[in-house]
Amino acid sequence: MTLLKFALTVLAVTSGVFAAPGQYAACDISSATLPLPSNQSQLTPATGAPSFIALGVGVQNYTCSSAGTYTNIGAVAEVFDISCLYNMPAFASIQNTAYTAWEHAPASLTAQEVIAMLSNMPVKVVLGQHYFVPNPITGSGTSPKWDFTSAAYAGNPNAFAIGARTGNLASPDGAANVDWLQLKVVQGNLATSVYRVNTVGGQLPGSCSPSDTTVHSVKYTSKYYFFGGSIKQ
Ligand SMILES: *[C@@H]1O[C@H](CO)[C@@H](O)[C@H](O)[C@H]1NC(C)=O
Ligand SMILES: *[C@@H]1O[C@H](CO)[C@@H](O)[C@H](O)[C@H]1NC(C)=O
Repeated sequence: MTLLKFALTVLAVTSGVFAAPGQYAACDISSATLPLPSNQSQLTPATGAPSFIALGVGVQNYTCSSAGTYTNIGAVAEVFDISCLYNMPAFASIQNTAYTAWEHAPASLTAQEVIAMLSNMPVKVVLGQHYFVPNPITGSGTSPKWDFTSAAYAGNPNAFAIGARTGNLASPDGAANVDWLQLKVVQGNLATSVYRVNTVGGQLPGSCSPSDTTVHSVKYTSKYYFFGGSIKQ
């Protein structure tokens, strides 16, 4: 907890740079571009500047499939504003800094508790939450949602984005990290496309017993870039 709090305080201070308590310090990211490797073609960069650059800190969940391998069933994460870090040296590795802190948080601290704790931070760097909801288009399966309606845009019921995956790229930083993703937004005004990049952790390799019905949660961090949409920072 101490280390996690420490790292997140650093994050809050660097990210909120000049923000007074209770205020956002949204910074200019009009020149920001996605950090995609030049030799990949799986993800197509969006045109224009991102409207938000965020850090996700949370867990990826898995259950055992009938084939005896782990299947990702969703995730839950807190989503922080890192727009003010964009031009700072800390930006490139903020996902690693946050992962190290999150990794060392006591096992007794659940993702939900961390999220609750962080939502009460005095400097407003919490944009919202990332979690899964029933697929609003097909009604079958679940879809990822980024929901800023309880934090950064409380009072705006459309400050969310529900995505459908349109591309994935194995993490260029190694197999221990969940894939980088491109998603088109199918519902919500927060964005028209969302990218998950610079992932750290979150994978659960190996085989399992189909009789194992436990949900296994694996810690991860990543950056999320949001493009388009009518809600801007
Ligand atoms: C891209 O280049 C990196 C090394 O610079 C390499 O590890 C990776 O496999 C390459 N990816 C593709 C899709 O060619
Ligand atoms: C993932 O697991 C966490 C507990 O670690 C739980 O709070 C959350 O609801 C789960 N979400 C999904 C989509 O399985």
